[in-house]
Amino acid sequence: MTVRDEATPVDARAYWGYFMRDAPREDPELTHVGPGTAMGEYLRRFWQPICMSEDLADLPKAVRIMGEDLVAFRDRSGRTGVLHRHCSHRGASLEYGIVAERGLRCCYHGWLFDADGTILETPGEPPGSRLKESFRHGAYPTHEESGLVFAYMGPPESRPGFPVFDGYDLWNTRMKSFEVTIPCNWLQVTDNYVDPVHSMFLHSSYASTQLTESFLLRPYCRFLETPDGSGITHSTTRRTTDELVWNRMNHALTPNIGELGSPWEKGLEPVLFRRVYATRWSVPVDDTNTVMLGWRHLNDFVDPWGKANEDEIGKEKMDFDAQVARPTYKAGQRDPGDWEACTSQRPVAVHAAENLGATDAGVQARRRMLRQAVRGERGDLLPAPVNGGSRPVRTFSQDTTLRVPRRPDPAEDWALLGEVGQRVHDAIVAADHLRGEERQTFVQRRLAEVETELGSSPRT
Ligand code: FES
Ligand SMILES: [Fe+2]
Repeated sequence: MTVRDEATPVDARAYWGYFMRDAPREDPELTHVGPGTAMGEYLRRFWQPICMSEDLADLPKAVRIMGEDLVAFRDRSGRTGVLHRHCSHRGASLEYGIVAERGLRCCYHGWLFDADGTILETPGEPPGSRLKESFRHGAYPTHEESGLVFAYMGPPESRPGFPVFDGYDLWNTRMKSFEVTIPCNWLQVTDNYVDPVHSMFLHSSYASTQLTESFLLRPYCRFLETPDGSGITHSTTRRTTDELVWNRMNHALTPNIGELGSPWEKGLEPVLFRRVYATRWSVPVDDTNTVMLGWRHLNDFVDPWGKANEDEIGKEKMDFDAQVARPTYKAGQRDPGDWEACTSQRPVAVHAAENLGATDAGVQARRRMLRQAVRGERGDLLPAPVNGGSRPVRTFSQDTTLRVPRRPDPAEDWALLGEVGQRVHDAIVAADHLRGEERQTFVQRRLAEVETELGSSPRT
């Protein structure tokens, strides 16, 4: 950008590329994630998935998380571990290590490391050597859950309890894990969590219908922080027929978690509080690479259409179109999806070059929250400590379709969509004190009341 750019009226800036040829700099406070960076330290306060369980069989796996080279493994007794990748003897990579009954053994001189970083053996040292007691190898605590291996990489004294979300076990849900590598900064991947309007274009109207045609309808959007500091919900409300209004709410949980509803939802049948379809973490590998790890939630309530395809959920695959790279560059050009949209915003999206509009309110709100969090201004955006109880984290991702007849006046009907969105939100928040099926039942009852109130008394 140049001074001329500022001083010249917009109308006079035709063919103005020459004066805009230098891209502004990226925003390091939100995007840089290596050790010691503001965002890196904030992200390290949360349990993060680092790989799929299926990767840890007879061989260790090299992983890179938040700019740190690590190795994950499962020893022969079944315990998982995450160690600094380079052997603390002379630096050979432990990705070539030998999985032992207890711990991981370096391939070079046979030093044996326990999952917590204890040096168990230094076989080449003379008898009586106390070398192995004089230091520890770098290690992080792990937790395995439904096909994903998590690590906590923050300060030991701040380790939170492992978060359990309240949508995990409703309706005999099975959770199938998946992994997608995305070569760009983590923040732009998570910006996509709070960008409901891209569904109208990228997924539904450009080259192919990646979502149902109902996503083509212009939504009334609303972005709200959740009452417990877990993040931001974005609510989209659409009129799908003269009789029906469909509200979808997705949830971007702090700092890098997104929960969303089913891509097969049409909003053409009444339904109350249909819950989460997928939970996903966008974990920074480093500043310019991300790995998305998460679960698909498989149950009859979220998928009454029977469209789930378990064979298509896993490593670099998802039973929902447009989530992974297209097979070729040209295929991506012809039919781009989220992967192409996010990775093409530059390796690190440059916020100073953006021109944000009304529909980017969620992106702006979430960036503001994260900035406050890394500056220590929002204690409520830190996870509860390990002894903070075992309450499940309430999540808000849902679909509700109510019978609410169309109002004759278009402006009034549009305002009504906003009211439906607010009333659905309020019904869910009113159940804040409840958990699990009790919460589900309460919200459904409240939403049925909302339907009666809005559906039976159309304004004139
Ligand atoms: S470098 Fe690992 S044991 Fe020597
Ligand atoms: Fe998308």
